[in-house]
Amino acid sequence: MEIPSPVVLDRTGADIHAEAALIRERGPVARVELPGGVLAWSIVGLEEARQAMADVRFSKDPRRHWTAFANGEIGADFPLIGWAMMDNMTTAYGADHSRLRRLTAKAFTPRRVEAMRSKVEAIAADLLAELAAVPAGEVVDLKARFAHPLPSRVICDLFGVPAEERAALMRGGELNVDTTLTPEEAAANLEQWGRLMAEFVESKRREPGDDLTSDLIAAQEEDGSRLTPSEMVGTLFLLLATGTEPVMNLVTNAVATLLAHPEQRKLVQSGQAAWTDVIEETLRVEAPVAHLPFRFPVEDIEIGGVTIPRGEPVLIGFAGIGRDPAVHGDTAATFDVTRANKEHLSFGHGVYRCIGVPLARLEMELGLSALFERFPDITLAVEPEELEPQGTFIMNGRLTLPVRLTGPGA
Ligand code: HEM
Repeated sequence: MEIPSPVVLDRTGADIHAEAALIRERGPVARVELPGGVLAWSIVGLEEARQAMADVRFSKDPRRHWTAFANGEIGADFPLIGWAMMDNMTTAYGADHSRLRRLTAKAFTPRRVEAMRSKVEAIAADLLAELAAVPAGEVVDLKARFAHPLPSRVICDLFGVPAEERAALMRGGELNVDTTLTPEEAAANLEQWGRLMAEFVESKRREPGDDLTSDLIAAQEEDGSRLTPSEMVGTLFLLLATGTEPVMNLVTNAVATLLAHPEQRKLVQSGQAAWTDVIEETLRVEAPVAHLPFRFPVEDIEIGGVTIPRGEPVLIGFAGIGRDPAVHGDTAATFDVTRANKEHLSFGHGVYRCIGVPLARLEMELGLSALFERFPDITLAVEPEELEPQGTFIMNGRLTLPVRLTGPGA
């Protein structure tokens, strides 16, 4: 059978949904081309993705299982090199993955997260009080003023990041998902982010606090759970960035979508639909993580009618998966909070499934409900189609979210 030509992924992420549809035309598992001309596979079918993520023959360790990387064919000039060089549970396999995951997963159990509720409420209330001081009718960027600081303050507080270091450490994570960067810019970011994070770890080693970074450092001393210095930095990269970016995107996407669909908004504000419905439907239609690098089959694997050869990179296309017509039919792309089946895999599946689900759900539910309670008349300050995408194919978000909270136009 002839393999269709690969879909060249758009580095600017101008229309990730159109791109996912283009991939799907070639099949639920299809060839794509990454920046730098590197060929990969993308899985956009829900069942196929579930199968792949549940299959322990898919590794995420590029050093051991990406043939071209191990052979030295993928160099520093590969724009996504940060995703291969990252040293944490997302680039580990088997026992290494379990060891790295175990150390942090226990901090995010539903019970531990429930204990954070009042803290998250207080942060949301502070941010909303700051927004209430904005003169009526003035346009504010809700992403910069609410959707970003809500999860970033929560995660930075948890990890004991001092106020003056937060902006730079957050910026490193933001740039790491920016697929428009040149290889030089990506490498420079990784170098700078790594240096700042190592300095932060050193400061916590000198002066431990009541925070998760200090707990991780203490765990370094324990038998069987030793973290190398590079794993320590890599784990903090991962937790600070994933603790912020996808929640920020979900809140931004949910608000943007509701404000663009008055009839859906009415259902929620009148109590006919719940915030959990909005969250699930947004996770499905506007998956915050759009296209996640990388998995590598440790042997040839047949899936979705194709054979993915051992050692080739695979991306999971979450943005496409939630809109799979094989599961959701002709209305798959329609945002409908009343839909009975809101099935998606936007938190992943299997051994690498997101450890932040309880925290993410808490932040999203508290954040969205508090926002609409405080500002029930909030409106978009631009036409929905004028909202610009984030500028990446890895994440699905908006560059900014201009709104009017109260007053004329709201
Ligand atoms: C709406 C919010 C979120 C979404 C959509 C999301 C999505 C995801 C996805 C798709 C994966 C799986 C990757 C894979 O299968 O390869 C993942 C993994 C992960 N997430 Fe989240 N995430 C969210 C929030 C969070 C938060 C708040 C945290 C922080 C506490 C977090 C921490 C992690 C970690 C540590 C992993 C790696 C798990 C592993 O490799 O074993 N996430 N997330």
